[in-house]
Amino acid sequence: MVGVEVKGTRNTWSVEDSLEELALLADTAGAEVVGALIQRLQKPTPTYYLGKGKVGELAELKEKLRYDVVLFDDELSPTQQRNLEDALEVKIIDRTALILDIFARRAQTHEGRLQVELAQHEYLLPRLAGQWSHLERLGGGIGTRGPGEAQIETDRRLIRQKIHRLQKEIEQVRKHRALYRRQRTLRGIPVVAIIGYTNSGKSTLLNSLTPTGRGSVFVEDKLFATLDPTTRRLTLPNKREVLITDTVGFIQKLPTTVVAAFRATLEELEEAALFLHVIDITHQNAVEQSMTVEEMLTELGLGDKPRIAVLNKVDLFASSQEDISDFVRLIKASGQEVVLISAAKGWGLDGLLERVMEKVLH
Ligand code: GTP
Repeated sequence: MVGVEVKGTRNTWSVEDSLEELALLADTAGAEVVGALIQRLQKPTPTYYLGKGKVGELAELKEKLRYDVVLFDDELSPTQQRNLEDALEVKIIDRTALILDIFARRAQTHEGRLQVELAQHEYLLPRLAGQWSHLERLGGGIGTRGPGEAQIETDRRLIRQKIHRLQKEIEQVRKHRALYRRQRTLRGIPVVAIIGYTNSGKSTLLNSLTPTGRGSVFVEDKLFATLDPTTRRLTLPNKREVLITDTVGFIQKLPTTVVAAFRATLEELEEAALFLHVIDITHQNAVEQSMTVEEMLTELGLGDKPRIAVLNKVDLFASSQEDISDFVRLIKASGQEVVLISAAKGWGLDGLLERVMEKVLH
């Protein structure tokens, strides 16, 4: 794994923490991490992203660690990726491609699959040209240039056609969803959306609030266990009904193209009357994770939605002295309500429902 810290950029995440997260993503994708390398740079180089010396270091490590893939914690340009593959003679995968790979494994519904496929094709399109000239170079060039270039054009055209088809299909899904939403609004049932960083406990909360017995939402200690939104009815203590929905988890450095591909799913958030922002309070990067979620909400134009900060997994604090008062103060300072729960143990859920009632059905 390789992480780069570009000096002077303001990022709340440290390169080390971000790499730790990349290792979890790698694990989710089924890879075994054998080493990590960090470089601090003024700015990434156009040729290799890294400095030349670091590329040499990586090549040396190959002898020692016998790795066969290098994961980069940032999105690489097609040129950087190709140059690195030539220099190291191994597969180079960037963070975006890794996340897309996980999404592709996780997508269950037709809608989920369509959106992942769109994101994958959009990722692939600018990288095509490079792939052919890359093969040409490996093959020595002579006699391959002509067919190669013709092939790129054909491939590009095919991919564009595919993107167009996917967009049209997704448009149908969006229309369908919009229709449902209108019906729901007409019936006056408020929607409460569970949002939060990946692995914070969103599905566990949905399961605890709406135990159905049949087919509960998939919970796993992996990133992006849930990719497709699930909506269920929930009866509040005053017998009023709301719809509660669980959505795709957020993660830092999620490229806007990927976010855009998930528009149909994320649009569900627009009609929500309230967000429950689930935060894994035991995570060492709880602050960074919640800030990432806040930033993405702003990016999606949802920054003004009423929300409750739901600090989860407090059961893990039961025997320790951990002090979260600073964190709680920080959130309260931003004007948000805070509720402490354990979604797994069912602690604090009555209090949470009281708050939901106040916010939604005032
Ligand atoms: P993504 O689908 O990846 O976005 O995850 P998610 O936010 O839906 O999280 P999920 O509910 O799948 O939970 C992630 C992990 O945290 C699982 O291993 C859960 O068992 C665990 N977990 C969730 N809530 C609690 C809690 O209150 N206490 C403890 N100890 N573990 C919890």
